[in-house]
Amino acid sequence: MAVGVEASALRAPFPWFGGKMRAASMIWERLGPGVDSYIEPFAGSLAVLLQRPGGAGQTETVNDADGFICNFWRALAADPDGVAAAADWPVSELDLTSRHLWLVGRRADLTARLEADPDYHDAKVAGWWVWGICSWIGSGWCDGRGPWRVSEDGARVVKGGGGVNRKLPHLGDDGRGVNRQLPHLGNDGRGVNRQEATAEWLRDLSARLRRVRVCCGDWRRVCTPSASNRNAATVAYLLDPPYDDGFDPDGCYAAGVGSLWGDVARWAAAAGEGPRHRIALCGYEGAWEVAGLRVPRGWDEVAWRTKGGYGGGMGGDGEDNQRRERVWFSPACIGSRQIGLFG
Ligand SMILES: C[S@@+](CC[C@H](N)C(=O)[O-])C[C@H]1O[C@@H](n2cnc3c(N)ncnc32)[C@H](O)[C@@H]1O
Repeated sequence: MAVGVEASALRAPFPWFGGKMRAASMIWERLGPGVDSYIEPFAGSLAVLLQRPGGAGQTETVNDADGFICNFWRALAADPDGVAAAADWPVSELDLTSRHLWLVGRRADLTARLEADPDYHDAKVAGWWVWGICSWIGSGWCDGRGPWRVSEDGARVVKGGGGVNRKLPHLGDDGRGVNRQLPHLGNDGRGVNRQEATAEWLRDLSARLRRVRVCCGDWRRVCTPSASNRNAATVAYLLDPPYDDGFDPDGCYAAGVGSLWGDVARWAAAAGEGPRHRIALCGYEGAWEVAGLRVPRGWDEVAWRTKGGYGGGMGGDGEDNQRRERVWFSPACIGSRQIGLFG
């Protein structure tokens, strides 16, 4: 166990837009940590899974359409030291651009391999990706939407589209890269070798993820009876899709703008009728109405507040959106009105 890091306090070594760290304990109170099968179709930084009280459950399945995310979690589970070695590099503007270009050039092939082979992962890609996202300021890391790309002969960086932005990296905190994400090390890491502390932290995460199934692709692929384990008496879903009217820094809406949240909500409304399904759906206040739907009968709406900022759930209008965060819980969730009435 890494210094000062408790099992229940595990968190991702990178910031992620829309992260639900602050809502995690409230979500677990309603889903119940003892649920037989837990599914997170929009994994991101896995903020909720990593805060499951008591650690791993019987069956846990996570998924993300973003190949870099899926590769990171798979590589971390299988080879934490390989990921730590690749991530251990000083922050440098030149390397940030060249590594960014190298990663963006691999996105399509990486995603295809992850989709085809459930064991596939690449520790170097994972380490470089997490090093970069921790050095990068703001959104757009590896989204492939910047103006700079590698020339045909591979020798220079030229303007041309479909590439990367060039930015100064995070230097304000002494360029600590991945180490800057270290969670509350006892004495602020003094007297502790930060690289070794990071490696230990990644090993802890690896141990936590060892039996978690990490899928890559569209959310629907893990929202099926077979993915949930047919024998499970209770199945919990954390549905945290990109929000319809939210800030969209990483192009989450790229395909089918505005329709994804509504599709997920429709699926949730139908699946939530089943007594063994405990569903938590995240969104902004009024999201059902924006999607042309109504909150189904028996569902509870719970408000919570983000800290704001990347990884804290920031929306386009920053401060305002911090207050608009909601989680809707299906009737079979613990403590819901429906259970109070009939159970
Ligand atoms: C709001 S973030 C999830 C944040 C996560 N709950 C956390 O705490 O870090 C939404 C995630 O959905 C993923 N995503 C977007 N479209 C998707 C799709 N069609 N299927 C699966 N994942 C998708 C994005 O890559 C992103 O990681």
